Amino acid sequence: MLERWLKESSYTVVFTGAGMSTESGLPDFRSTKSGLWRTKNPQQLASTYAMQHNRDEFIAFYQYRIRTLLECQPHIGHTILANWQTRGLIHQIITQNVDSFHQQAGSTNVIELHGTLRTVHCSRCRQTYDAKRYVEEQFTCTCGGFLRPSVVLFGESLPYDAFEQAWTAAERADLWIVLGSSLQVSPANELPVAAKRGGAKLVIVNMEPTPLDDWADLLIHDRKIGEMLQEIDELL
Ligand code: APR
Repeated sequence: MLERWLKESSYTVVFTGAGMSTESGLPDFRSTKSGLWRTKNPQQLASTYAMQHNRDEFIAFYQYRIRTLLECQPHIGHTILANWQTRGLIHQIITQNVDSFHQQAGSTNVIELHGTLRTVHCSRCRQTYDAKRYVEEQFTCTCGGFLRPSVVLFGESLPYDAFEQAWTAAERADLWIVLGSSLQVSPANELPVAAKRGGAKLVIVNMEPTPLDDWADLLIHDRKIGEMLQEIDELL
């Protein structure tokens, strides 16, 4: 059914979460067994509070995430999505992920709702540097300011332009496909609902149940995204 909807749709949006990158080797956040937030407290590590008042742990956490990211790369699922975009089957990719694997796999115009872990920038002058500086233990800008990862921390708002573009895509979509998100974090999780309210078919592909499952026109649980995308690709 999904392959038919992809062919028939005039504006398809793919909306991805951390479950899109677990098959690349990156842990997600809320998987029952292996999610990062199952053993770590995001407020103590990934928040503006942590950056101010718990800086050593904050730095160590992001050094771990940047180092892990540099050891991983996109998987076949990212490549298939890039290929579908080239073929005009997908019109917009919106991601909550900060790994830039969609771009590395060849997708273009990717909307990154939660920023990127590929760069760090100065809290004072906003000068941007490659995130490798964290692995090289360099945390200070040439102006003397603190270098922080260019991700949206808990307590920060989403980049205005990214969210604005995502909201426009939600209003325009006639097919919205969620891949690998627990849909528990707002305001990103408002987008699939907005798409549905705008008349889009909603597809949720996620290993575990999500709070938006009742909204879905098609629900695929207990399937690995990479395998599922390969199966659909063979039918297109
Ligand atoms: N195939 C299908 N589903 C998968 C796979 C896979 N290979 N691997 C994991 N999943 C599912 C998990 O069951 C989980 O429900 O992906 C979902 C990922 O959910 P989260 O870990 O909550 O990730 P996400 O929804 O992207 O989190 C949103 O929370 O911590 C913040 O900023 C962070 O962007 C992140 C946001």
